[in-house]
Amino acid sequence: MGTVPTGVRGLDVLMDGGFPKGATVIVEGAPGTGKTTLGMQFLHQGAVRDGEAGIYITFEEFPDQLYRDMLVFGWDLRKLEAEGLLRVISMTPDIFLEQMTEPGGLIEKLIVDVGCKRMVIDSISLFRYGTASQEEHRRTLYRLRNILRKFDLTSVLIKEQGTMNEESGFEAYISDGFIQLQLKQQMDKYRVRTLEILKMRGRRIREGEHIYRLTDHGIRLIPARSMVEDMALINGREKVPTGVEVLDGLLEGGFSQGTVMLLDTNSKANYKYLVASVLANRLRAGDKVVALLSSFHTPQDFDKMLALQGLSMSRMAGEGRLFFIEHYKRSYPDGCEAAVIDVKGLTGSQKYREFVRESLGPRAEDSPGNWFIYYDLNTVLSERGKEYVMKFFAEETAEIKAKGMTMMVMCNFSEIGPECSAYLERTCNGVIRTWVDGSYQYMQVMKSPNGIISEPYVVETTAQAPFMRLT
Ligand SMILES: Nc1ncnc2c1ncn2[C@@H]1O[C@H](COP(=O)(O)OP(=O)(O)OP(=O)(O)O)[C@@H](O)[C@H]1O
Ligand SMILES: [Mg+2]
Repeated sequence: MGTVPTGVRGLDVLMDGGFPKGATVIVEGAPGTGKTTLGMQFLHQGAVRDGEAGIYITFEEFPDQLYRDMLVFGWDLRKLEAEGLLRVISMTPDIFLEQMTEPGGLIEKLIVDVGCKRMVIDSISLFRYGTASQEEHRRTLYRLRNILRKFDLTSVLIKEQGTMNEESGFEAYISDGFIQLQLKQQMDKYRVRTLEILKMRGRRIREGEHIYRLTDHGIRLIPARSMVEDMALINGREKVPTGVEVLDGLLEGGFSQGTVMLLDTNSKANYKYLVASVLANRLRAGDKVVALLSSFHTPQDFDKMLALQGLSMSRMAGEGRLFFIEHYKRSYPDGCEAAVIDVKGLTGSQKYREFVRESLGPRAEDSPGNWFIYYDLNTVLSERGKEYVMKFFAEETAEIKAKGMTMMVMCNFSEIGPECSAYLERTCNGVIRTWVDGSYQYMQVMKSPNGIISEPYVVETTAQAPFMRLT
């Protein structure tokens, strides 16, 4: 299957190079979102760059009007028409359908005549007025799609934004691709135009809403992933896989080494499997792990979780590969005692920091890149106070990052207030949120060093490691 580049800057990147050859793609959007511009850009680029002839069918405007409108983008459509690379046809939907479906009809003649490769129909919403029922509308579109396929045309069918009482777009089912253009209100402050590919048969697409602009050269799209925080963070950095397949896919391999990821959970969410999977993965890879467990994530819990992953907590601790920073008075399984850095008596911030540093310091000097730190911030908040976090957290994470250590911070944003959460969100390189709503748990990447913001996934429990799956 070939690829037909749309020539719309940024758009082709979202679908591995362009539309699949011969695909029928619906472009839906509200008035003024740029549907006509997108359609014409597709034909203009095809003609100018690839020498492919195109036909633009319009039911609403006269060719002259379109020629004039498109001149603002610098597209000389008349010239293309004179070169036999473009035809703009204005007719009624009824005549179009009649001529299109008739073998040897006007449209078929035109297609053969110009050697048409690309077609745009503006817009299929107007078929509605002529047809009696939805059933008939559906049949009409089916027929249209089959003819477009017969001639192996890569086509864009423009569709007006559906109204509330309209049947939920069956057009999406019969088409090979579906693109939605939207004008969105952002943070009550400004509006952005967004494009989302909801479907593109046989193509890997970059999900999500991508911002586009109408510029003097037509539509220009900025793929959301180019919102990279810090290129240096992802270029050439080792990845630290979490062991959860979908999550690793989203993060392009896992956490980037030398970054701090924040896991925001609500109180009902079960995050212990994720934590165990990440830490077990690190231990298996030969990393050294420091864990600061929360008050309700007991050492015994953690022991069981690691055992499920086939690892022995006391063995890891005994081998000097697993350490604990302990704020509470609680017992650890046999063999772990030497690995526990007991800080419960240490009230002063300075004393605490120095003690932890001294306990780990010399060991962490040899290969800092192989250290992984799991840090329950809610414990630090309740035991050391908000002041401590606000004062030292950025400093600590900066040091950890500078050394090349990787860190996962657990936190419950809803418990710590908006000011502190905003601060943490800024300080960390990435944020993964997990929460329970009704009878489902969800997980979503809210921020990541590679710019990915994912859809919310449902978290399912499974019988085998990592005991969870994102769907
Ligand atoms: N250089 C430019 N910079 C910014 N906006 C522009 C530029 N040129 C045109 N526009 C705007 O872009 C929009 C293009 O709309 P277009 O006709 O492609 O949308 P449409 O979705 O087909 O609308 P309709 O539903 O009315 O047919 C117009 O509102 C126009 O004012
Ligand atoms: Mg239009």
